[in-house]
Amino acid sequence: MNLNFGLKGKTAVITGATGVLCRVIAKELAQQGVKVAVLGHNGEKARLLVDEIINDGGSAIAFNADVLNKESLVEARDFVVEKYQTIDILINGAGGNKKEATTSDELSFFDIDVKALEWVFNLNVLGAILTTQVFGELFAKSGTGCVINISSMAAYHPLTKTVAYSGAKSAVSNFTEWMAVHFNKNYSPHIRVNAVAPGFLLTNQNRFLMEQENGEPTERGKKVLDKTPMNRYGNPEEIAGPVLWLCSSAASFVNGAVIPIDGGFSSYWGV
Ligand SMILES: NC(=O)c1ccc[n+]([C@@H]2O[C@H](COP(=O)([O-])OP(=O)(O)OC[C@H]3O[C@@H](n4cnc5c(N)ncnc54)[C@H](O)[C@@H]3O)[C@@H](O)[C@H]2O)c1
Repeated sequence: MNLNFGLKGKTAVITGATGVLCRVIAKELAQQGVKVAVLGHNGEKARLLVDEIINDGGSAIAFNADVLNKESLVEARDFVVEKYQTIDILINGAGGNKKEATTSDELSFFDIDVKALEWVFNLNVLGAILTTQVFGELFAKSGTGCVINISSMAAYHPLTKTVAYSGAKSAVSNFTEWMAVHFNKNYSPHIRVNAVAPGFLLTNQNRFLMEQENGEPTERGKKVLDKTPMNRYGNPEEIAGPVLWLCSSAASFVNGAVIPIDGGFSSYWGV
């Protein structure tokens, strides 16, 4: 067997593609010859990313879509199909946490507003489910396709403070397994659904938890680094590599898996 890591000529739809992680995934996919459809609700940022990809010799289009609005996702799907004819890969990258749903010295668990909890659960869980409903329907019809969800270390064991985010990412991992089975059992054995579970990267989503204003690590930041055997944060390129592998036929028997990309964090009890 000749292993094939190539993705040239495929089409990928990426939500949250203007974010820290998925913009790198989008650019790396484009570098491999993948036609990239950038779905986001920040039109200007999406257009800038598309320009960057095209300037680098890749192919990309942008469409404004809200992952919590099925109508806008259907419009996005029609637009991408009109431009690129087929869709091979869906990356559910939109997600995140917010301060208002995170316990702290200023905010007790008992005072977290329901709206903040809903925001986190909806964006991470419903966002992935609705987008997979809309784009996955094409996969069910064609009998092929690849879905990548973005879970988190918080899915394996909840992280302190991030009550909604931990539960939501647990649900994303669960949905990954559920969807893989559902596609295979009801539509085709050639549709794969996997997730990556990034360890700790320093991004907007968690900087307020990890770093003090002077750039020194917070108590939490120190604990994370101590519990990461590689003793550092990851960077978005290190998430992109495994995503590209999962999308390729070199990963043709990887299905329903949640791959930790964490510098060893989830392998280490700290003793
Ligand atoms: N950064 C990390 O350290 C880390 C670690 C583990 C998991 N993750 C997960 O990886 C994914 C990407 O994280 P990131 O750090 O790049 O986040 P980010 O905040 O930089 O990007 C999130 C993106 O989602 C988009 N978005 C938000 N709401 C949306 C909506 N309703 N419809 C469409 N798009 C919407 C935003 O515009 C943005 O482009 C998220 O699911 C996040 O939870 C991140």
